[in-house]
Amino acid sequence: MLKLAVMVSGGGTNLQAILDAMDAGKITNAEVVRVISNSTKAYALERAKKAGIATACITRKQYPDPEQFDQALLELLQESGADLVVLAGCLVVIPQCVVDAFPNRIINIHPALIPSFCGTGYYGLKVHEQALARGVRVTGATVHFVDGGTDTGPIILQKAVEVQQGDTPEVLQRRVMEQAEWVILPRAIHLIANGKVRVEDGRVIIMP
Ligand code: GRF
Repeated sequence: MLKLAVMVSGGGTNLQAILDAMDAGKITNAEVVRVISNSTKAYALERAKKAGIATACITRKQYPDPEQFDQALLELLQESGADLVVLAGCLVVIPQCVVDAFPNRIINIHPALIPSFCGTGYYGLKVHEQALARGVRVTGATVHFVDGGTDTGPIILQKAVEVQQGDTPEVLQRRVMEQAEWVILPRAIHLIANGKVRVEDGRVIIMP
């Protein structure tokens, strides 16, 4: 059974998609053992409590020394017993010490087709604002392993979503969440939990 620690910052719709997929049998061989937020106000924490999952809240503001935060987050993840860390709408920059402790065992959902509209400053609604400003006809979402960079790790799954005439950033964000994020994040977890994913020379191999 793969133990997941899910890191959140906001509404938690991606967390909910994971929990719903587990209930529906679309994710097997995995369980969420801890939900960790950097905001006490994150509705994702309510979703976790409703599901009976242990939660924790850790913010940089609690630690005058940034390295103390990094160490505290690492210890929190290690004592949770997590095999895989899932960044689900998480706005925390993952410290290098955590990336080093969980090599190819941290995944992130990004609301664009990497390498488009990603990297520092591209998160949340900003991603969709930039996609609309560029006039792309297709956008989507990406699940990737987290390495030392921002949105630079090996890509696991992607799903394309059509941009429609008149889309606002909010409308496009919702479509990308519904049609892509909430589909490929659970799918990626299911594949990893069932031993179907490996990384070779920096690229992901998905076994049949
Ligand atoms: C959304 O912008 C989503 O695209 C991104 O994180 C934000 C909130 O997601 N992955 P959630 O509802 O908290 O899962």
